[in-house]
Amino acid sequence: MAASFSPSSRGSDPSSAPPPGARRRLALITGASSGIGEAFARAYAARGCDLALVARREDRLAAIARELAEAHGVVAQPIVADLSIDEAHLPIVAALRAWGRAPDILINNAGFGVPRRFGDAPWSRQRAFLMTLAVAPCALAHAFLPAMKAARWGRVINVASIAGFAPGVAGNTLYPGVKGLMIRFSQALDSEYRGFGVKVTALCPGTTTSAFADEAGYAHLAPRPGFFSRPQTADHVAEAAINGNESGRVIVVPGWRNALAVAALRVLPEDLTRRVIDRFGARYLLGEER
Ligand SMILES: NC(=O)c1ccc[n+]([C@@H]2O[C@H](COP(=O)([O-])OP(=O)(O)OC[C@H]3O[C@@H](n4cnc5c(N)ncnc54)[C@H](OP(=O)(O)O)[C@@H]3O)[C@@H](O)[C@H]2O)c1
Repeated sequence: MAASFSPSSRGSDPSSAPPPGARRRLALITGASSGIGEAFARAYAARGCDLALVARREDRLAAIARELAEAHGVVAQPIVADLSIDEAHLPIVAALRAWGRAPDILINNAGFGVPRRFGDAPWSRQRAFLMTLAVAPCALAHAFLPAMKAARWGRVINVASIAGFAPGVAGNTLYPGVKGLMIRFSQALDSEYRGFGVKVTALCPGTTTSAFADEAGYAHLAPRPGFFSRPQTADHVAEAAINGNESGRVIVVPGWRNALAVAALRVLPEDLTRRVIDRFGARYLLGEER
């Protein structure tokens, strides 16, 4: 699916001039049709930012864009794109160029899980995972960081996970490695661009209420909420990320339970954490539920 963008037919009119003297920031959010990405869209609209909302489901994007444009008086534009395809970022860049805008804020959020033994999911699915969660975020950052640097103002939030601090275990084979990449990538970008007014953050949520587990087909396997495992809302996670990013934090782990889990993963020996997670946590192997 190539990106499609039609300024005049969906959302509000992006050509409408911003109020005199007040150029609104533009936030580009991937995976904005659901969950954490939709929460980012709501949070930035409430802060008076224009929005470029990227995902595959056009109807959902259009409804969210319309609602937020009306509620907050911002311009909200859906950009329909499949981030799993080759050079997925190029049509998005072209759509923004046609609009005459460059994002001041980039939220790399789109994602999904592959809860299978590695070889049991088709390679096309594993490849789509790498393209969507690793290649596309890097490509979008590569496309938009030079303009942020030139403007000496920019914000990038890469949605990683507390799993990015965890060892690999059965199921979701590539997930910890790719989320770890997003954390290291964010740290490196922070070092390179901090001096140019660009703030970069890796958001590392734990379990968050969204469509993620349903989409991956393992909602029925999720542990029951308990004292140490309580899902956070997507709104809470997005707010924590934006506030942390604004205050210059490179890694944001929302919630004390998640912070505790990350602290443990950082200090305990990896062979121990791996055995514990493998024993109690590696339930996401569809068809082979333990
Ligand atoms: N929920 C959690 O517990 C949790 C915890 C830690 C980290 N995360 C991370 O948070 C991010 C958002 O997940 P979520 O929990 O909000 O899940 P979600 O509700 O399922 O949302 C996923 C979003 O990604 C989009 N997406 C998926 N594949 C895409 C593709 N090929 N091209 C374009 N967009 C695509 C979906 O839109 P379309 O289907 O319309 O394309 C949707 O908007 C992910 O990176 C995930 O790894 C989630």
